[in-house]
Amino acid sequence: MALTGARKKQIAIVTGGGDAPGLNAVIRGIVVRAISLGYDVLGFRKGWAGLLGEGEQHPLDLDEVEDIHTLGGTILGTSRTNPYKIPGGVDQVKATLKKFNCDYLIAIGGEDTLGVAWKLHQDGIKVVGVPKTIDNDVSATDYTFGFDTSVNIAADAIDRLHTTAQSHERVMVVEVMGRHAGWLTLHAGMAGGAHVILLPEYPYDINEICKIIRRRESQGKHYTMIAVSEGAKAIEGDIVKQVDKKDMFGHVRLGGIGERLAQDLEKLTGKEARHVVLGHLQRAGHPTAFDRVLGTRLGVHAAEMVENKEFGKIAALQGTEIVSKDMKAALGELKTVPRHRYDEARIFFGVE
Ligand code: F6P
Repeated sequence: MALTGARKKQIAIVTGGGDAPGLNAVIRGIVVRAISLGYDVLGFRKGWAGLLGEGEQHPLDLDEVEDIHTLGGTILGTSRTNPYKIPGGVDQVKATLKKFNCDYLIAIGGEDTLGVAWKLHQDGIKVVGVPKTIDNDVSATDYTFGFDTSVNIAADAIDRLHTTAQSHERVMVVEVMGRHAGWLTLHAGMAGGAHVILLPEYPYDINEICKIIRRRESQGKHYTMIAVSEGAKAIEGDIVKQVDKKDMFGHVRLGGIGERLAQDLEKLTGKEARHVVLGHLQRAGHPTAFDRVLGTRLGVHAAEMVENKEFGKIAALQGTEIVSKDMKAALGELKTVPRHRYDEARIFFGVE
């Protein structure tokens, strides 16, 4: 790809929210394409906190991003900081961009980060967004990068846990990430062969799970694998929280449903039960080839969106193509698991 002569303008990049495998592929895609189009790129560390002056900034050139698409996490670091919740925060973000001669901003993040990006766009900043989350719950894109890697990690864990559950003739409850949307649990549960899958979207009846465990017992199958989203709850039950305190985007820290469910099932069925919380392992380490390719393509497209002055928009996956969509379409309603997808999974409940 030919490099153009004079530098045009400078693009700032920020990564916000929980890290997701594939973030570095997006950064590399942006940098390589932006440089080929004649832009300079400046990376701000620590998410929005970096633009509030709490992080450093770092010029991103071709050497900086060489081979980073294979690495997990984000070379820029991240935070769950919300400049709209900090007095004078928005003015500070604007001042930082001005101070470092950044004409454009590319924000890579989930619903929260894109929500801030959308407001900044309305406040006059020239912003492009790239949706990110292992939860795959951002509307307006078919899949988010990071999801595929997390599904593979969680499916592998469920796969492996079969042998210990079988050996000890236990019920094994595997808690998977996903606050409001059960995509990760649905896909990992299906791929890993869980006998019961429980999602935030569809409250469960514990008696139904007990029936499945007992039916399997009567068939000589003395173990049952259960995949449960951290945000799942029983009918008339509550979401199980680890900490009540909310972050700057109003989220509490979930976790504990796996343990509670295992205890309840042991009491009700008399079968020994254990739980495993996969936690941040699901976001950790190298991205899959799928996420590297998706991240790279989204990054390239985002840089081209700056060149085409498509501000207030996101790069999104539609079928097999990367397209530009209004940022607003990614906000508001989360993309949750539709009923027919859950019913499809339920056909296999209790089945080997
Ligand atoms: O938003 C992605 C996510 O992985 C959720 O599924 C999970 O609840 C949350 O992040 C955990 O975030 P933290 O890293 O702040 O504990």
